[in-house]
Amino acid sequence: MSTATPPAPAPVSSAPVANYDKGLANTIVADTQMSFIDGAKGVLEYVGIDIDTLARKSTYEETVYLLWNTKLPSETELDALKSALRAEYEIPQGLYEMIRGMPKDAVPMHALRTLVSALALHDPEADTDGIEASKRKALRLVAKTPTLIANFDRYRSGKEFVRPNTSFDIATNFLWMLNGEKPTDAMSRGLDICLILHADHGLNASTFAARVTIATLSDLYSAMTTAVGTLKGPLHGGANEEVMVMLDEIGTMDNVDAFINGKLERKELIMGFGHRVYKAYDPRATYLKTFAQQIATDTGNLRLFEMSQRIESIVLDAKAGKGIFPNVDFYSATTYHCLGIKTDLFTCMFAMSRMSGWCGHCIEQLQDNRLIRPQAKYTGPHDVAYV
Ligand code: ACO
Repeated sequence: MSTATPPAPAPVSSAPVANYDKGLANTIVADTQMSFIDGAKGVLEYVGIDIDTLARKSTYEETVYLLWNTKLPSETELDALKSALRAEYEIPQGLYEMIRGMPKDAVPMHALRTLVSALALHDPEADTDGIEASKRKALRLVAKTPTLIANFDRYRSGKEFVRPNTSFDIATNFLWMLNGEKPTDAMSRGLDICLILHADHGLNASTFAARVTIATLSDLYSAMTTAVGTLKGPLHGGANEEVMVMLDEIGTMDNVDAFINGKLERKELIMGFGHRVYKAYDPRATYLKTFAQQIATDTGNLRLFEMSQRIESIVLDAKAGKGIFPNVDFYSATTYHCLGIKTDLFTCMFAMSRMSGWCGHCIEQLQDNRLIRPQAKYTGPHDVAYV
């Protein structure tokens, strides 16, 4: 009998990895007909229409129709979508009770993520398969999200709930519920523009996360819960809140140069700058900058806008040639602030708008589904003794 030690088993072999792409920046995993981005030229189109044109001429409801149907609506089609959305503004009583049970100091994005998830508990169609059922759920999610956000904010501020007003469009209805009074046309339009600009943006991190979830044939509520959680991070949608925190911390124009130069010297990130895809000026920021200036002037907040402009000029000089420009979050911070929205609600505003893009992408995913399952390169040991 041989006493030789048996050879160690060969290391576990993994299938060859065709493409190692950390962060997936150079990997295409899905088709979409909703938005097109040319990051080098700074172009964003929804279904072929330039974002700047949509921001100036369209409405959020019309944009939602465009994204979901890949064409602009006729007047009758738009009216039908508006009515269908308005019929879904109200949230189940159980959700109001759930809000009442939340800690008043809860981070709004935690509250929103929980409430979006809880909507499934009250929808008899939550687990109904099929594109048509998913479209009905998408409508509910887009219509009810503003009610969740506004009434969570009212509750934590010690105010009575305000029920949605179905004679208003989404932007007006949101501000109505948030503040308990009808906003001016300028305020409604300001929010409407922000909703248009944030509605969709290719396969950004939260949209990708939503598509990963729906691709398992889970349900739309689960996918939206995933998406809200992913948007929350400061490298993604959370940056708009960080921009406002930074502006508050800087305080006055006199402090801008020292504050920003100090950050640059310490190689810290300046929130609201840089983008994975745009290496030119973010086309959403182009219009928002103009709009932020107007609304800052109208509301007596020009100081904030001027500080933002100075920050932009320092960062652009320091990062010249490196493709670092303001992104959508930079001037949306000033805009939301001027609309009277609290800083810790900024990312919720983003979610409220992007809900339409997330839902549209999930429906696209379901129309041509394949489980999304990339690989990891294993870098740990093999043949480790079990002790
Ligand atoms: N401030 C200072 N330097 C920056 C910034 C910034 N905001 N963004 C990128 N850089 C620098 C990086 O430090 C890096 O420098 P290096 O090459 O010397 O190391 C270089 O630019 C490339 O940056 P990456 O991190 O590789 O770019 P990536 O594509 O991975 O990241 C991201 C993009 C995450 C958006 C990044 O620019 C960032 O963190 N920005 C600040 C947060 C922010 O505003 N996020 C919102 C993005 S828009 C949105 O999600 C809606």
